[in-house]
Amino acid sequence: MDFEQLVKNRRSYKQFKDKEVEIEKLEKIFEYTTEAPTAFNLQAYSFKVLDSEEAIKAAVDSVVPGNEWVENADKIVLLVGDERIDTNLEKALDDMLEKDYLDEETAEGYRERISSYRDRDELFKTGWLNRNTMIPATFFMLACENEGLGTCPVRGFSDQKISESLNLEEWERPSLMLPIGYPGKDERPQKWRRKGNEIFEILKILDI
Ligand SMILES: Cc1cc2nc3c(=O)[nH]c(=O)nc-3n(C[C@H](O)[C@H](O)[C@H](O)COP(=O)(O)O)c2cc1C
Repeated sequence: MDFEQLVKNRRSYKQFKDKEVEIEKLEKIFEYTTEAPTAFNLQAYSFKVLDSEEAIKAAVDSVVPGNEWVENADKIVLLVGDERIDTNLEKALDDMLEKDYLDEETAEGYRERISSYRDRDELFKTGWLNRNTMIPATFFMLACENEGLGTCPVRGFSDQKISESLNLEEWERPSLMLPIGYPGKDERPQKWRRKGNEIFEILKILDI
């Protein structure tokens, strides 16, 4: 699918056909998703694919009123951030050193700074994980569209409830729910969007 078609056609889908999403499609979607950029290339996130009645019920039981529709999905994908943040630090640094993106001294500076992130406060971690999971989420949504699948980002759920029922590790922080399936309705009108020329301004001279 070409880029224009992809971004113009994507919608949030809340109704799905009674048709299973093939594992091969999921694998392809995650291949595209992992292309998403993250700060320092740390990739501190993962996706859990809930694919049983029991696991889906755990997700449904965690949503806020109004989001019960998630039970219509064939599978519910849960994006989680890794609060340790530096889990992939050595891999990312080694790769950047090998490919000449960094010199040793800069790498050492990064190593020191990033390994301290796991001890930072809640506010810092929340901001960091939010920023670093939303771009992978976007890649995931567009990859779904490219494969003819529907999804909808869902943040209205209780972190605590879903963490408990899925027995998540203490460092796994639920970020976003992405119910997926074959769209129930093929045609959905696009919702209002601001015009492209309303969302930017060009700054050349700073008025100080
Ligand atoms: C961060 C985020 C959280 C959202 N949470 C919910 C949610 O809890 N429940 C829901 O039904 N839709 C949710 N949405 C979907 C938005 O309502 C939807 O994307 C928006 O209305 C635009 O519609 P469209 O995606 O079809 O263009 C969320 C979207 C985003 C980006």
